[in-house]
Amino acid sequence: MYEELAKEKFDNLVKNYENMDILILAIESSCDETSIAVVKNGTEVLSNIISSQIDIHKRFGGVVPEVASRNHLLALNNVLKEALDKAKVSLDDISAIAVTYGAGLVGALMVGVNFAKSLAYALNLPLIKVNHIKGHISANYIAFPELKPPFISLIVSGGHTALVRTVDYTRNELICTTIDDAVGEAYDKVAKVLGLGYPGGPIVDKMSKSGEPNIQLVKSYPTDGFSYSGIKTAVINYVHKCKQQGIEINIPDVCASFQYYAVGQLVENTIKACKKFRAKTVVMAGGVAANSYLRSELTKACLAEGIELRFPPMSLCTDNAAMIGCEAYFNLISGVGLADMTLSAQSNLNLKFSSR
Ligand code: KG4
Ligand code: ZN
Repeated sequence: MYEELAKEKFDNLVKNYENMDILILAIESSCDETSIAVVKNGTEVLSNIISSQIDIHKRFGGVVPEVASRNHLLALNNVLKEALDKAKVSLDDISAIAVTYGAGLVGALMVGVNFAKSLAYALNLPLIKVNHIKGHISANYIAFPELKPPFISLIVSGGHTALVRTVDYTRNELICTTIDDAVGEAYDKVAKVLGLGYPGGPIVDKMSKSGEPNIQLVKSYPTDGFSYSGIKTAVINYVHKCKQQGIEINIPDVCASFQYYAVGQLVENTIKACKKFRAKTVVMAGGVAANSYLRSELTKACLAEGIELRFPPMSLCTDNAAMIGCEAYFNLISGVGLADMTLSAQSNLNLKFSSR
């Protein structure tokens, strides 16, 4: 009964989206942010409530998956109420429910998926499944409503580092990816080794501002893909060596040096890809897109090549449900993404890149 009703409503939205307002209630719980948003017609964010667990996980030096799941469970009801209140809508106004079902921490994802399924079922609404990484790309459509594919997307998050060609609203083709760690993961590890705490990216970013990139960590960085394991290990070895020899570590210099190698390969690979595919626009997606050094270096490089660069404001770079609602909308109007009550969390969900 539910499945038929939801399918009927979904098909009706697909058919009539140009003549009606579509309000999507989106739920994001893939890591340590519990977020619910109400998004109108894809890009108009009526509310985007984010309850961060950073303070809870700080004392452990990183996200503890079980603790994350429990706190999502505790937060969801209040976040939902706040999201509806802020948007000045009720559940009766909602056209569809969207949820991140991967990639992320399996337990954390499961909490959001089950919450979304319960809401969809109780309200007889279509349920739209969203890939978290694609959501990060969609954050750009919110920030720049006039932005249209095709463009090149540089995906830089805690779990992913990749360049893709965003061919249209639902298709991405892989250009290159990391052969080992993700860039955000490396930032977090470097911060941990330097005793800077969690989350590492923003702290390393800040510390670097007063440092010089004067430490040669590795001989070079790849320009035909990404690699972060070598740089990360080089920082660990450098710190150990200094400690053993009683040499005082200049933390800002280590941070600035790490950033030089971490960001250098992102910039070079991005420009190379733009030239190869004659792309005129690049967008950044994911938490590391909040990095000020990456933003300024890529801005300079794109300017020099006549390439237009877009990146979302800080608040839309890190995890949030508005980008999930936006991504769900573009799936919906293309007639894809409808899920049913069998939907489950997929922690290793890939971008499902189409092959070139
Ligand atoms: O996209 P995101 O919020 O979560 C994932 O989907 O992974 O990305 C989180 C990552 C973390 O590794 C965090 O340290 C990094 O983004 N990050 C940053 C900055 N802000 C967040 N890395 C470098 N500089 C920043 N300013
Ligand atoms: Zn993310």
